[in-house]
Amino acid sequence: MDTRVKPTVVKLGGSVITAKEKAFTPNIPSINRLAKEIAEARLDSVILIHGGGSFGHPVAREYQIVEGYKTPGQRIGFSKTRQVMMALNKLVIDSFIRQNLPVVAVQPSACTTTKGGRIQHFDVTAIQHLLRLGFIPVLYGDATLDLELGFTILSGDQIAAELATIFNAEKMVIAVDVDGLFTDDPKSNPNAKLINEISLKELNGLLDSIDEAKTVDVTKGMQGKITELIPAVERGIQIDIVNASIAGRLYKTLKGEKVTGTKITRG
Ligand code: IPE
Repeated sequence: MDTRVKPTVVKLGGSVITAKEKAFTPNIPSINRLAKEIAEARLDSVILIHGGGSFGHPVAREYQIVEGYKTPGQRIGFSKTRQVMMALNKLVIDSFIRQNLPVVAVQPSACTTTKGGRIQHFDVTAIQHLLRLGFIPVLYGDATLDLELGFTILSGDQIAAELATIFNAEKMVIAVDVDGLFTDDPKSNPNAKLINEISLKELNGLLDSIDEAKTVDVTKGMQGKITELIPAVERGIQIDIVNASIAGRLYKTLKGEKVTGTKITRG
């Protein structure tokens, strides 16, 4: 797609912008710090996506939104999921505006349709226009309409990978609260090692052994995350997974400096 500068796609995981174990609790100091790090990196073009954390996930789970429409009682859950995501998005937008970053919210559920949970249609007209004018479009994981399921949850990771592909991103930065991908679960296996760099081929072999997140996560934790990101890597877009709960890591990654984390390349 015709944009002058290749955008950097940044996904802020719900685990770094909310207190993941405490329902509806934003992590404002963390949001503010990340906004500052992104501002200080002074990138030419950015697409920002954020996750649901303790806002979207508990509601989506309570009403089984990801499974699709089965009973009328779920409808209020769909409404509530949309509403809590907009509430979290407002906090993110407020914080970024305080850093003088020209962010504009783009509601994913209004410009996407999924089929069986996969993006089928994505109207990127507004995003393209915003990028051309030098804005930072901000999207988020959302409850969205689905051609097979009625509705479902569209993860921020799938949105990030799709937009990175459509806009031929410079790279994707996935900000989470762990150092990156490990050879095993570092919490249960002290010998687990951080993978600094991994090619797509090696990654496919490893995928089965990545543990699913233990917290309430309707979009399947790290394994789901990686699976969502792979299509962008297949198109040659590099991914950096970094621990953004540690000050400076996101900034350094955005500046192309070497930091602790996992780099995924096509190989
Ligand atoms: C989930 O988005 C959004 C909802 C549950 C509505 P993500 O899957 O991208 O969120 P995180 O980053 O895991 O919290």
